[in-house]
Amino acid sequence: MRICFVCLGNICRSPAAEAAFAHLAQAEGVEVEVDSAGTADYHIDSAPHHLTLAEAERRGIAIDHRGRQFSAADFDDVDLVVAMDSANERDLLDLARQAGPGAAEKIVRLGSFEDDVDPQDSSTIRDVRDPWGHGPEVFEAMYDHLDQGLRGLLRHVQKQQAGQQSGQQSTRQPGTQ
Ligand code: 4NP
Repeated sequence: MRICFVCLGNICRSPAAEAAFAHLAQAEGVEVEVDSAGTADYHIDSAPHHLTLAEAERRGIAIDHRGRQFSAADFDDVDLVVAMDSANERDLLDLARQAGPGAAEKIVRLGSFEDDVDPQDSSTIRDVRDPWGHGPEVFEAMYDHLDQGLRGLLRHVQKQQAGQQSGQQSTRQPGTQ
């Protein structure tokens, strides 16, 4: 599964989410392709924020990313586009209108994968707060918050992959691979 994490600037939340999810998936032996992007063009080619990098290092998470802006064409290359907050989600839905059919259905907010969300009530989905301009403790809290949604996302990916495998098995003809 190909997943792109999206925030505003692509230097704080989404590169952290991309790296933390890759780390988690690898630890659990789950195969995913990850990427991240911003809805804005403020930090194209920039390294992640120094506090995003510092907290990743403290947690033993590798980050290797340069800022890029999400475009309508990116919907074709991914299965899931994971927004950090409701403003990112709205901007992505605008872009999805310029993209092909099925694009909007790929958009989801990370908070929707947290344990305490009521699936019937989108007001219970929490945004991942923008830490830009804040100190190291806010970046530490950002990673803690990301972790909750990312663990739920990983369970979702595992279920999808298990479903795909059993689907493949049930459609496989006897005597074929
Ligand atoms: P991010 O944080 O969306 O989590 O990467 C921000 C980084 C930079 C800006 C805004 C948010 N900015 O306005 O430059």
